[in-house]
Amino acid sequence: MDWGLQNRLFRMINPVTRRTVMLACDHGYFMGPTHKLENPRRTIEPLVSYADALAVTRGVLRTSVDATWRVPILLRMSGGSSILSEDLSDEGVISSFKDALRLNVSAVALSIFVGTRHEKQTLLNLGKLVDLGNEYGMPVVAITAVGKELEKRDARYLGLACRLAAEIGSHLIKTYYCTGFDKIVDSSLVPLVVAGGPRLEKESDVFQLVYDAIHDGAAGVDIGRNIWQHNAPIAMIRSIRAIVHEGATVREALQMFEENRVNHGNVMKAVTVD
Ligand code: R5P
Repeated sequence: MDWGLQNRLFRMINPVTRRTVMLACDHGYFMGPTHKLENPRRTIEPLVSYADALAVTRGVLRTSVDATWRVPILLRMSGGSSILSEDLSDEGVISSFKDALRLNVSAVALSIFVGTRHEKQTLLNLGKLVDLGNEYGMPVVAITAVGKELEKRDARYLGLACRLAAEIGSHLIKTYYCTGFDKIVDSSLVPLVVAGGPRLEKESDVFQLVYDAIHDGAAGVDIGRNIWQHNAPIAMIRSIRAIVHEGATVREALQMFEENRVNHGNVMKAVTVD
């Protein structure tokens, strides 16, 4: 891996733990003003210092993220459909590579929709982005998207999607956690980061997901809604960090959550005004 590409990758991945906690705030590109992300700056600002990277679109980056904040950016490059479309897989590339360079981002991300009508176009988009990424030293993160079909999140499907992404040349892959995840890690050739998905019922469910993902070999997590839709988002991300970077158990993460929920009460109130 070339120096520039490696350097950008290790802005996002802690070089000591070799893991990462990314904060996903790129939902608006197809979901619009998602609950608790209506005003991205209000949501992101209190959390940004706890994130190893921030996943956003260029629109959110330019309007809602200060250039002075010391957070590496994972720029979403794919889009073109909305939550109102029948088929979310009809995506193209929505930002130029030149703009990604101008924005000085640490990596670019693009969704692939394996097994859908638009499988081919999303895979070819990934190939083109990887060519540019290799040329300019920019890591490319493939996202194995499932659209509205959340039930697709099983080892057979995700194993296939991740391997395709790796074969096309992705440097990192964002996927979902599932039973048999260790086998997906084994056959995916490059590091995997696990997305959070829709809100889980209890804090312990989120911490268990993170714990299992890390223990099955994930290089980290990229979580959005289970952090910023929670009424104690700072306490959530701090506990997630403890599992990912410090080897905390679910029980320890829960205990830490209860302590931080109290200590950060005022800050969180400001973030969670509806
Ligand atoms: C979806 O728009 C993005 O790929 C999200 O970044 C990803 O799903 C992670 O966010 P969440 O934890 O909310 O699922």
